[in-house]
Amino acid sequence: MRILLAALLALSPVPAFTADASPDPAQWLAPFKQQLKQALKEGLAQGPAHAIDVCRIQAPAIAASVAPDGVRMGRSSHRLRNTANAPADWLQPVIEEYLQESEPVPRQMDLADGRKAWVEPIMTDGVCLACHGEKLSPAVSDALARYYPEDQATGFKVGDLRGVFWVTWKPAQ
Ligand code: HEC
Repeated sequence: MRILLAALLALSPVPAFTADASPDPAQWLAPFKQQLKQALKEGLAQGPAHAIDVCRIQAPAIAASVAPDGVRMGRSSHRLRNTANAPADWLQPVIEEYLQESEPVPRQMDLADGRKAWVEPIMTDGVCLACHGEKLSPAVSDALARYYPEDQATGFKVGDLRGVFWVTWKPAQ
């Protein structure tokens, strides 16, 4: 089974890391998600307060480092922790619509400036509650108060929309 899997992986196409080869925004997001998860896991191994520091420093750096040329990506929310993640004008209404939907799904859009966009909902799961849930440990509350005095990203329950991943790129001419 393991050999079969290895063979399948070897056969799978090399990801297209340029914006003009047939765009696959979900695939562009994959290393961002994967590295965020890894950073969170490593941070959490040393306690949630430490993980906050890791997230704070690494989340924006990861987004910048994994985006192919000409592609921008990030996370946003209707209830922000980091105001630097505030939604662009085009993204705000998408988040509002997602909030009305019981099972929001990813969408692709054409933006007014000629770029294309891809948005994916991010739902809250159990792992998120230590830092985004209703009851936070004193260490987490203290760290959040220190770094994010305007934090609005607590009080979420499992299954709530926590925010979105977004990607924009310029389509090939
Ligand atoms: C260890 C604490 C911690 C955990 C656990 C955690 N987060 Fe966060 N989260 C943060 C911090 C810190 C930020 C701000 C990072 C930044 O500056 O971009 C953040 C930001 C975000 C953002 C960006 C929007 C915003 O409000 O700035 C989203 C979306 C998000 N988290 C979703 C999640 C989800 C989904 C989970 C569970 C899988 C999760 N987080 C688990 C600490 C955490």
